[in-house]
Amino acid sequence: MQLQLTSPLDMHLHLRQGDMLKTVAPLSAKTFAGALIMPNTVPPVDSKEALLAYKEEILNAVNNFTPYMTLFFKPDYNYEFLQSVKEDILAIKLYPAGITTNSEGGVESFDLKQLKPALEAMSELEIPLCIHGESGGFVMDREAEFIPVYKQLASAFPKLKIIMEHITTKEAAHALLEHENLYATITLHHLYITLDDVAGGLLQPHLFCKPIAKRPEDKEALLELALNANPKVMFGSDSAPHPKSKKEAPGCAAGVFTAPIALQLLAQLFEKHGKLDNLQDFVSGNAQKIYNIKPLEKTVILEKKESEIPKKYGEVVPFMAGQKIEWSIT
Ligand code: DOR
Ligand code: ZN
Repeated sequence: MQLQLTSPLDMHLHLRQGDMLKTVAPLSAKTFAGALIMPNTVPPVDSKEALLAYKEEILNAVNNFTPYMTLFFKPDYNYEFLQSVKEDILAIKLYPAGITTNSEGGVESFDLKQLKPALEAMSELEIPLCIHGESGGFVMDREAEFIPVYKQLASAFPKLKIIMEHITTKEAAHALLEHENLYATITLHHLYITLDDVAGGLLQPHLFCKPIAKRPEDKEALLELALNANPKVMFGSDSAPHPKSKKEAPGCAAGVFTAPIALQLLAQLFEKHGKLDNLQDFVSGNAQKIYNIKPLEKTVILEKKESEIPKKYGEVVPFMAGQKIEWSIT
């Protein structure tokens, strides 16, 4: 059995810089037509110069792949600045300060008055806002606690497209449907694992990420949205490579590396649930509509043929390393 996908898109991807970028960017370009590139580099992508330099670094590492660039949200972005970068970005990514990897320069307060000028300008210029939506509370409750912020922003800026990044809870899955201008990305790993897989037995550092995987009923709520290709959701891998030495260590870095095997594992999942017909929309069609983009043409053919996930890509251990999967890329 074969499955043909047209122009798959990964609408949430970490490529890093330097040697790591040279290792991982071509792996995404092999099966995806484009990806939304996260700006939490060191230092973050928060100026036009940094943005253009980062785009060039990515383009030098790949062929036939569109890096849809993002800026790291700062409350002091003004209309003139945003207008000057509009053509170079697809979205702006907001991180609460210190909530995850390299987010120290993020937003300290969600006081609407402080955020209003930048968000109004984005709304007017039609620049979507992507949000890492977690509070500073207890780790299992962080996403649910952030939902009032999503709702407040969605109501205060009804023309602003807001993307709830990497949702992990049934609460987020419900909130998404309540506001016309809320959308969401869903990762591969949050469709496969719960907290039990991370910490229920021996601790699995390669499954540790932010937001942490939650309960079975949360995973079910995400599956319901993804498998039916609900038009409010799209695939965003949040593939976040860290070297093995930073994962298998005290103070394990957060991030799951899935980019090279994402489509194969999505095909396996959608087939298992009898929903293969919906995969095209989940991995491309929905994102095209939400972001109003026309990706470059790329045909990817998957085949139902067993393969084994490599133990490592360079210094990075992938999701389900060494395990057998039912689908391969031809
Ligand atoms: O697990 C994560 N890793 N979550 C994020 O939000 C950031 C990412 C990274 O950059 O490593
Ligand atoms: Zn991310």
